Amino acid sequence: MTQLENKRALVTGGGNGIGRATCKLLAEHGARVAVADFKTEAAEETVTQIKAAGGEAIALTVDVGDPDQVAAMTAEMVSAFGGVDILFCSAGGGSAADGPVTEMDLDEFWRTIRVDLFGTILCCRNVIPEMVKAGGGSIITMSSLRAILGSEGFDAYTSSKGGIISLTRAMAVTWARHNIRVNALAPGMIMTDRIKDLIPPDHPVIQKMLLGAGAPEDVSHLVLYLASDASRLMTGNIIPLDGGASIY
Ligand SMILES: NC(=O)c1ccc[n+]([C@@H]2O[C@H](COP(=O)([O-])OP(=O)(O)OC[C@H]3O[C@@H](n4cnc5c(N)ncnc54)[C@H](O)[C@@H]3O)[C@@H](O)[C@H]2O)c1
Repeated sequence: MTQLENKRALVTGGGNGIGRATCKLLAEHGARVAVADFKTEAAEETVTQIKAAGGEAIALTVDVGDPDQVAAMTAEMVSAFGGVDILFCSAGGGSAADGPVTEMDLDEFWRTIRVDLFGTILCCRNVIPEMVKAGGGSIITMSSLRAILGSEGFDAYTSSKGGIISLTRAMAVTWARHNIRVNALAPGMIMTDRIKDLIPPDHPVIQKMLLGAGAPEDVSHLVLYLASDASRLMTGNIIPLDGGASIY
């Protein structure tokens, strides 16, 4: 299938979990994929898997919270593929140092704001001018079900993911005139290795997921849709992917 033929995709956090599954699916559907991660070996492993399946990909090392590194990453992507049509900002995630506002580690607050929120801002800031040059594009940001539901214990993470929702809507309004669409994902529990280590299997959010917890591949198919021209009328949407948790 070549739903993304001639498209050039940049995926941050592409070395693991949801990012890796998405890089592989986008490549399978014809996109040339830049796999960006601060773990170089993990990004390279994703590229190896894509190439073994006949796809085209490059690995880029980046800390998405560092303005100079994000500028360099974007320049490398443009030099390799000639531009950017799809940006998926998956780099990020909470940690055990988070908690309620009264207890959270304040360094953890700034870490998640820096990586998840500021990292998304930096990637969009660098990539949007390239999309304008290309005549349009699709940006998929990564929020979380936690930013939609009230949920306990991850107030730093929830703050950063809430910011991504507002940012997504603002960017969707600003850039529609340049044919750039911006949508946010709000997944429930997706059982990546990181989540298996962090979250007990009987966690209340998992119990609210009527269809059970998700897999990285569940998210990748939604990104594929949002990245493709099939979703040409979708922008500014915050899309729960949660097995029914947000309506239950
Ligand atoms: N897994 C879930 O249940 C779930 C639910 C909702 C939202 N999310 C979000 O989805 C995204 C991916 O989550 P995941 O579970 O696949 O995590 P993961 O840990 O499997 O993958 C995240 C990747 O991001 C990379 N990364 C982290 N900080 C980075 C930085 N500063 N610069 C560049 N790369 C960096 C990591 O090296 C890793 O490869 C995160 O933004 C997370 O908040 C996940």
